[in-house]
Amino acid sequence: MFEHIDPYAGDPILTLNETFGRDPRPHKINLSIGIYFDDAGKLPVMSAVREAETAMLQTIGARPYQPMEGAANYRQAVQHLLFGPTHEAVTGGRIATVQTIGGSGGLKVGSDFLKRYFPDSQVWVSDPTWDNHRAMFEGAGFTVNTYPYYDSATGGLKFGEMLAAFKALPEHSIALMHACCHNPTGVDLNAAQWAELIPVIRARQLIPYVDIAYQGFGDGIDEDAFAIRALADAGIVFFCASSFSKSFSLYGERCGALSVVCPNAAEAELVLGQLRATVRKNYSSPPTHGGQIVARVLQTPALRARWAAELDAMRDRIHAMRQRLHAVLSAKLPGRNFDYFITQRGMFSYTGLTAEQADRLREEHAVYVLRSGRMCVAGLNSSNVEATAVAMAAVLAGTT
Ligand code: LMR
Repeated sequence: MFEHIDPYAGDPILTLNETFGRDPRPHKINLSIGIYFDDAGKLPVMSAVREAETAMLQTIGARPYQPMEGAANYRQAVQHLLFGPTHEAVTGGRIATVQTIGGSGGLKVGSDFLKRYFPDSQVWVSDPTWDNHRAMFEGAGFTVNTYPYYDSATGGLKFGEMLAAFKALPEHSIALMHACCHNPTGVDLNAAQWAELIPVIRARQLIPYVDIAYQGFGDGIDEDAFAIRALADAGIVFFCASSFSKSFSLYGERCGALSVVCPNAAEAELVLGQLRATVRKNYSSPPTHGGQIVARVLQTPALRARWAAELDAMRDRIHAMRQRLHAVLSAKLPGRNFDYFITQRGMFSYTGLTAEQADRLREEHAVYVLRSGRMCVAGLNSSNVEATAVAMAAVLAGTT
C-alpha cells in the first residue's frame, strides 16, 4: 500500500537537533535549533510563567472547547503586546486576531485564508528565510519567490536591491518579512529603511506578511515591535504571525497568534469570520493551557514586569555571548572581520561557514550549526563559548 511513499529526508533544523540528541560525545554543543538556553545550558522556566501557572492550577476547573478564534483575554493580550494598548488600530477594532498553534499555526491559517481570497497572488520571501516559510506557503498552494536580502560580502542587508525588487512586485503580491531578529541571518531593517519601504508597499498595494517570533530578543519588547507599529501607523493592511515560544520559553505549549490589520472594524469582522472558518477546517480550535499562562502574565502588572525583566536578562546574555565570540575569534584570526556577530540581532547569526565547514565543525568538534551556516547564539554560554570560538577559528583557518 505504501511502497510508493517517498522517504522523508528530514528537516534541516529539527532533524539536526535530533541528531544532536543522539550524539554520545559529552562535550557536544548545540547551536542548531532556535531555542534559548540559559548560562547553565538549561532550557529556562521563567519565574513569572511558573507563578502564573501555579496560580492557575489552584483555580482550574472544567475545560470546555475554546472558541475557534481562541480565548478573548489571550487575543487582547496579543494585540496589546504587538501594537500597544492605545494604538488606534486596537482601540478602533480594526485588527482581527486569532489564537493559533504556535506562530507556525498563524502562518498556516493566514496562508490558507490568503490562497482563498487572493488565489492569483504569489509569495515573496527574503533570500534567505526560515526554512519552513517556503514549505508552508507552497503547502497552501502558492508559488514562492525570493527578494534580495542578505549580503554575504558585508554580513549586512542588500537594502537597495530589496527596495528595487519591491518596486517591481505585482499588485497584491504577498511579501513575507521578519519584524525583528531575522531568522536565519540576524540582519534587520533599521527605522529609516522601514520608512523608505513602507511607501513602496503602499504604492504597489502589496500584502505584507510579518513574522514576529523573537519579540524582546533584539533591542527590547517595544523596540522590536517597531516595524509592526510603523505599518499600522501608515494605514497598511497586513498580516502578522506572532509567537510566545521563545519570549515565554513555552515552546511545547504552542502559543501563537495571527493578527490581520484591516482598513476598518467592519472588514475586520468579516476577516475574523473567515479566519474562524479556516481554524475550524484545520484543527477546530486552539488548546487552553499555554495561552492562559501567557494571558495571565501579560495582564497581571507585577507578573508582566517580572517577565519583562527576565526577558531583558535573556537578551543581555545573548549580547554578552556575541561580544565574547567576537573577541575570541578576532584574537585567533586577526585578519578577518567578525563585526557581524555584534551588529546582527536576536538569537541567530549567519556565520559565513559553508555547508562543508559546518559539517567539519560538527564531525570534528561536536559543535552543531545549521548547514546554511546559521548559528543559534542563544545556545552559547560561559562554559562553551571559548570552545566554540576555538573550533570555529580552526575550521575557518582550514587547520582541521
Ligand atoms: C528555528 O528556526 O530553529 C526555530 O524557529 C525552531 C523551528 O521550528 O524551526
